[in-house]
Amino acid sequence: MKKMIQGCLAAGAVMMSGVLAVAADRDASLYVGNKSCAMCHKSAEKGNQLGQWQASVHAKAFESLGSPEAKAVGKKVGVEDPQKSGKCLKCHSAAYNFTETVATEKITPEEGVTCESCHGPGKNYKAKNVMEDHAKCLEGGMIYPATKSCELCHNDKSPTWKADRYTTKDGKKVGFDVEQAYEKVKHPDPLLKKK
Ligand code: HEC
Ligand code: HEC
Ligand code: HEC
Ligand code: HEC
Repeated sequence: MKKMIQGCLAAGAVMMSGVLAVAADRDASLYVGNKSCAMCHKSAEKGNQLGQWQASVHAKAFESLGSPEAKAVGKKVGVEDPQKSGKCLKCHSAAYNFTETVATEKITPEEGVTCESCHGPGKNYKAKNVMEDHAKCLEGGMIYPATKSCELCHNDKSPTWKADRYTTKDGKKVGFDVEQAYEKVKHPDPLLKKK
């Protein structure tokens, strides 16, 4: 039943925005943590995805829950300490896997929104021979395009959601615009050739 409800929410997100979303019911036992991705994704010539992520808002998603602003946001919805509440960490930490409780020990809440929050749990696609083959990545559960994941968190359930945060090309005000938002957190691999 829980899965069905999440599926419906995802379907709702599709209709709202026209972007194909994915369901949030991921197998938490398949998470490996950012350290397991980092070793192969930090060289400058391949775009240093690790460094790009570390410099992004997502790496600070736990830290920012400790700010006075976050405390004020929490107070409004009856949350005493946002850094300890599943009501906030479900979107601010991969360790919670979109639920209100810790779902995996492979990731600490402090890591915030990680590689796997967007690309999907990595256990079955992180091996080198799989990573080098796009079709095998998909078989191993990689979410691609990873923009399918954004709206699992970027939606009106966020207490700081502003329905007019973005202005689209044709002048419409929206709460989230995948293309513009991805520009702010992108980390392309200049050597990557699609197979
Ligand atoms: C053993 C090294 C290794 C590990 C570990 C690894 N990757 Fe990769 N990854 C690669 C290689 C090699 C490629 C192919 C592109 C390239 O050569 O730069 C790749 C490609 C990718 C791509 C593009 C895939 C495509 O087919 O378009 C993504 C996204 C990615 N990795 C994410 C991750 C994530 C997330 C993790 C951790 C869960 C991870 N990788 C772990 C080596 C690795
Ligand atoms: C549904 C997912 C979701 C939940 C639940 C959530 N957040 Fe967030 N949070 C986001 C997203 C996405 C952003 C980026 C701005 C936006 O769209 O709201 C964000 C941004 C923030 C910011 C930065 C403010 C800004 O405008 O950029 C603060 C502070 C914050 N959240 C606090 C909290 C607190 C406190 C809770 C728990 C009471 C919480 N969030 C629960 C998804 C969530
Ligand atoms: C906020 C979500 C998000 C996070 C966090 C994130 N990525 Fe990505 N990543 C994307 C998106 C979106 C793309 C563009 C390609 C796509 O749509 O899948 C991408 C592209 C990539 C690519 C190049 C593949 C290509 O086709 O251009 C690699 C490699 C990659 N990510 C690895 C990582 C690693 C490693 C981490 C963690 C250190 C990480 N990503 C964190 C969303 C994310
Ligand atoms: C696991 C939840 C989660 C996912 C998935 C996610 N984000 Fe976020 N995002 C957040 C949170 C939480 C914040 C607020 C970080 C903070 O300031 O604490 C945020 C903030 C942002 C911001 C800055 C606020 C804004 O809206 O301008 C951008 C840009 C952004 N994310 C882009 C993306 C994109 C693009 C994707 C998909 C490729 C994505 N995010 C996927 C949780 C998520």
